[in-house]
Amino acid sequence: MNIIKRKFDTLVIGAGGAGLRAALQLSQADAKVAVVSKVFPTRSHTVAAQGGMNAALGNVTPDNWHWHMYDTVKGSDYLGDQDAIEYMCRAAPNTVIELEHFGVPFSRLENGHIYQRPFGGQSQNFGGDQAARTCAAADRTGHAMLHSLYQQNIRAKTHFFDEFFAVDLLKNEVGDVLGAIAYDIETSEKIIIEAKTTLIATGGAGQLFRTNTNASINTGDGMAMALRAGIPLQDMEFFQFHPTGVAGKGMLITEGVRGEGGYLINCDGERFMERYAPHAKDLASRDVVSRAIAIEIREGRGCGTKKDHVLLKLDHLGSDVIKKRLPGIRDTSLTFLGIDPIEEPIPVFPTAHYTMGGIPTNLYGEVVVPAGTGGEEVIPGLYAAGECACASVHGANRLGGNSLLDIVVFGRAAGNHIIDYLKTHHYHLILPDDSIDEALARLERWEKVDSKQGDAPDSQELSEQSSDQANNNHETYTVSELKAELKQVMEEKCGVFRTEDVLAEGVQQVKEIKEKLSHAYITDHSLVFNTARVEALELENLIEIGLATVISALARKESRGAHSRIDYEKRDDESWMKHSLYYMKNNSLFYKPVRTKALTVETFPPKERVY
Ligand code: FUM
Repeated sequence: MNIIKRKFDTLVIGAGGAGLRAALQLSQADAKVAVVSKVFPTRSHTVAAQGGMNAALGNVTPDNWHWHMYDTVKGSDYLGDQDAIEYMCRAAPNTVIELEHFGVPFSRLENGHIYQRPFGGQSQNFGGDQAARTCAAADRTGHAMLHSLYQQNIRAKTHFFDEFFAVDLLKNEVGDVLGAIAYDIETSEKIIIEAKTTLIATGGAGQLFRTNTNASINTGDGMAMALRAGIPLQDMEFFQFHPTGVAGKGMLITEGVRGEGGYLINCDGERFMERYAPHAKDLASRDVVSRAIAIEIREGRGCGTKKDHVLLKLDHLGSDVIKKRLPGIRDTSLTFLGIDPIEEPIPVFPTAHYTMGGIPTNLYGEVVVPAGTGGEEVIPGLYAAGECACASVHGANRLGGNSLLDIVVFGRAAGNHIIDYLKTHHYHLILPDDSIDEALARLERWEKVDSKQGDAPDSQELSEQSSDQANNNHETYTVSELKAELKQVMEEKCGVFRTEDVLAEGVQQVKEIKEKLSHAYITDHSLVFNTARVEALELENLIEIGLATVISALARKESRGAHSRIDYEKRDDESWMKHSLYYMKNNSLFYKPVRTKALTVETFPPKERVY
């Protein structure tokens, strides 16, 4: 087959904050960089980040990076690696200033300094008074950042492949990653992008769950590519449920609402977080607030006729504050609920938000895997950054505002490391001809299904299918049916609270969905610009991430951070203070120690986590 080939120094897969920050660093250093994105770059999910980015600037309350580090370690329920957390928190202030210089229009205080708001889990002086550490551009911080980073990349002459879907990594016989094969969504053309270094920056997998805050593009593509390339995923059992999604719909209502002074009430009008977190109240860590909401509803104190949500009250903030600091969530509430939060509270419920686990990396974004001899080794030339990666700064529960920080700190670090790598790796390694075979087979499988099935089956075809069924003992399914089923299963079997039996059912059901996908078809009417094919490839990816999540969750017999087991209520540091590593091969799990040693400061030892 004649496939177009292009060669670059670096291939960046994904054009969110992490990918664009890395690409910018590289392009400014005159590296030849290709960014492949399945959507136009400024539609990447970073655009949806609302509340802001943490950095101990101390503009509103006294602050320093060491307090930020303490809060992040505690927030992670002591599963975060303390060297990585120190690195990120120390880098934060300069990273924000650098973004400001790139043109990010941060909101301002009266004195002209960058505006910072309080967010969950933030404290002064190692657990003291509430800190205000989250640098914000109103409640559209991700939007401001992504646009600035994109514009800077255009200026630096980064090469963009917009609306190309990266299908799989390409490797040689000894496992070096030499680029990827991508699919032009508009034309169906395939392209091989050979690269000396490849950075995966494809974001998270919130589309695993029926109700989520994520863009429809968040289907775990890069993580699934890593799995298929034999790379494990770390800590996948830890999926964050944001406490305040629009009830029944899932859209994000930023934690910034509570940072500005909003609070949650139950059907009795009670500010119930005072019972669960007497000190931090509504600004306790996300896992704590999400569990509290779930308990209020379970115990019959939910609001509405079905008693299935709680209310987020912010009318007391006044219309000036809401219009100035929270214009986006007012729009969301008006558009999707017809409710003006200046006058009425917003109905909310915990909603799937963030993939804490991902592709294991070191501080420089290099992908690290267990070595045959014990210890770890890096995969030369392969990097990951952002939500798809696990630099292990979030552990079992990420603090709000640490995600935008993670993507720029580790995107930049990866860019810098790649620049050094390229200084000693001048040539492209040879890409074997057969390296694309598996990816092509996956692509062709969906082309074949399409041309064979054409339209959705008519009655004649359905009767042929039933005789086929009788022969082969299987039914046919549409991709969208299976996707809906997967999301339902994940929501019901792997939600805020978990048990052995329910998780085991989840594992079984996701495996069944995987099996059903081999009998799935695409309906012709949905074949617009190949998006239906892309949806099928995305579903293959989501299923692998679903399996990684639910299998890792079933195995971890303790409660830690966002992984809350009703049958193992306590954190068990003796047995479970370790990272999980899930491999696709045989759905197997391995474990590795948490790095408790920080870079320059004392370790924060685990203690009971109260807010
Ligand atoms: O609530 C929010 O604005 C979300 C922020 C985050 O996830 O970091």
